[in-house]
Formats: sequence, structure tokens, C-alpha cells
Amino acid sequence: MGRKRTLRIRINPRKPERGSIRRAARIIMDGGIVGFPTETVYGLGANALDAKAVGKIFTAKDRPFDDPLIVHVCRMGQVYGLVKKVTLDAKVLMEKFWPGALTIILEKSPLVPQVTTAGLSSVAIRMPSHKIARMLIEEAKVPIAAPSANTFGKPSPTNAQHVLDDLDGKIDCVIDGGDASIGVESTVIDMTGTVPVVLRPGGISVEEISKAIGKVRVHHAVGKNAGKRNAEKLKKFTAKSPGMKYRHYAPRAEVILVEGRPARVMEKIGKLVKENRSKKIGLLLADSEKNAIPGLELMHGDVMVEYLGGGAQNAAKNLFRSLRKFDTEKVGLVIAQGIAEKGMGLAVMNRLRRAAGRVVRV
Ligand code: TXA
Ligand code: MG
Repeated sequence: MGRKRTLRIRINPRKPERGSIRRAARIIMDGGIVGFPTETVYGLGANALDAKAVGKIFTAKDRPFDDPLIVHVCRMGQVYGLVKKVTLDAKVLMEKFWPGALTIILEKSPLVPQVTTAGLSSVAIRMPSHKIARMLIEEAKVPIAAPSANTFGKPSPTNAQHVLDDLDGKIDCVIDGGDASIGVESTVIDMTGTVPVVLRPGGISVEEISKAIGKVRVHHAVGKNAGKRNAEKLKKFTAKSPGMKYRHYAPRAEVILVEGRPARVMEKIGKLVKENRSKKIGLLLADSEKNAIPGLELMHGDVMVEYLGGGAQNAAKNLFRSLRKFDTEKVGLVIAQGIAEKGMGLAVMNRLRRAAGRVVRV
């Protein structure tokens, strides 16, 4: 595929200008691919019903064709055309969490091309809340298939510059609408079985979902197993969600995740820094806990520290940006501090586990 000029359209996310959005929508209607902001992360969109246009997304991202996309809608009426049936519990979830950071999987209708769902009989659907995303879908007059707008395997983009860093010259257009407010992707829930299963934790917590519909299962590949890359074990975990079998969210640097009791974690991080002094190190810490790392200020060598800002929501908002910064600064080793897996903490830890080559428990 030849390189193209990627058009950058700046739009105020609070008061989107319809005329500018129409320009991007026109590109989608003409079979092109467009990066756009959502409240979770930036997406790379194409007409979900146009197999050829959807194919371009996979090529631009270097994404394997067995990893299905999420179809984005702007009103309930669009959902009925895409699925066989909206189940009762799915309806409850849509009413409670849409528009928002929840992706719901249902049996697909024949209208959705195979390439969009990677040959699966189900389709993932989300109604985003971001004003620009909503207006773009409205103006394109079709549902928009969109994965995160990063090169496959990299941390997801939370602003337009991240999108261009990965995809400049490979996509037709990017809408620059500022920073994504949530910072991690949507929660993906499979509603095709007898018990709902969370396949990916994200912007809506499992606790909130249980409150709305009662019993939900969290897929085994989500928690402690998220870092495993043993092919045989993974096969049984990932039959349901192909995306889970790939290493993901990873900066170029090696990542070591340290989890356990806070004091011991800090002590271990201090040790790892000392042992790896020959490398440029990036520390990813939950809060301003630098001083809690024994002797850090006395250490020689190159240490870059990124704080996530305390609390699961700040961690989610800043995680991908910090991982990308380590790349820009050519860090050779990232050492990350684990956080509690409550609320959005589950999504943050899932991303960290999947980015990490090594998880150390102390
Ligand atoms: O917040 C988000 O969800 C962002 C924004 C742009 O909406 N999108 C996003 O898409 O993160 P993507 O493609 O990066 O992740 C979608 C995940 C993948 O892990 C994929 O395997 C899974 O959803 N998925 C999609 N359709 C599925 C299906 N029919 N069955 C099981 N898993 C599915
Ligand atoms: Mg992605």
C-alpha cells in the first residue's frame, strides 16, 4: 500500500463543528479510514458494512485478520439491524451504560461482513458518549467499525498525536479532539451465552455491571493469567476472544511488573533499579512514591519516573501516555508498580500484565 497524506482536522470536543465533522464523515462514506476520539481511546474507523473499507483498517494497523472489530453506533435503532436479537440483559446494559465505555457482544445478523467480525458469528457493539464520535457516526449514516487507532501491539492512543506517531501516511484522516478522558478501552462483555462473560475489563467496572444484571463471569484470561504467553494454556483461554492471545499494550522496552505489599514492592523496585543500572530505566509508579524507594536518589545512571497520579481512574487516564513516553525517551527497561484490582484497577492491571514480559510477586 502506498503512503498517503493524512489529513488532520482539529475539532473542539466540547462544541464540535458539524461542517468539519462532515468532511471526515465523507471520507468514511467513500470507503476511507479515519482516526477519531472517543471517551476511552482513539479509534480507527471505517464503514462497518463495507468489507473493503474494513480491510484497510487491518492493513494500516498491521492487525491479524483473526481479531474482530467493535462496531460503533449512535442510536439504538442501528443495533437491531446488526444483531439477531437483543437479549433482555443486553437491553438492561444498553439502557444503563450507553452511551459509554461498554461493548456488548451479541449474535450477528447477515448484514455485518465477515471481515468485521473476523469470521465469528457474533458482533461487538458500542455506543460511545464522546460528542465527536457520536456526530461522526450520525453524519456518516452508517455504523463505524473501529479498533484502537494504534499499530497492532502498541499502547492504545489517547490523543491525536499518538495516532499520527503510529499511522501517519497510512490513514486518510485523523480528527484531533484532545485527550481521551477515560484512557483505557471499553469493557467487553459477551452476552451470547447463558451467563454474561467479561472478556476485557475496561472503562465500566465489573462491580457496576454486576449491580445492573446480577451474576457475571470474568474470563480466566483477564486477571492473573493475562500475562501468560504459554501457547497451549492460552489456546483454551482465548477461544472466545481472539484478541486476548496477543502480547499487547507494550512499549518497545522490556517491562517488569512488580506487585504485592506496597513496602515490599518499593524495596524490590529499588533492587531491580540497582541491578539494571547499565540500562536507561523507566519507573511507572502509582503515586508520588519516589521517596519510598530505598536509596533511589543516590543511584547513578539514567532513571525516568512517570507517576500515574494515584487512584485507579488516574492510573487509567495516564497509563498509555506514560508507556508511550518511555518509547519516545528510548527507555530500555520499564519497571512498573502494580495497583489494586478494584474498579478500574482491574483494567489497568490487565493492560500492565499484558505489556509485561515478567511479573514479579513479592
Ligand atoms: O474503547 C474501545 O473499545 C476502543 C474504542 C475505539 O471504541 N476500541 C477498541 O477496539 O479497543 P480493539 O479492536 O482495540 O479491541 C476490541 C476487542 C479485541 O480484543 C477483540 O478481540 C474483541 O474486542 N472483540 C471484538 N469483537 C468480538 C467478538 N465478536 N467476540 C469476542 N471478542 C471480540
Ligand atoms: Mg486495541
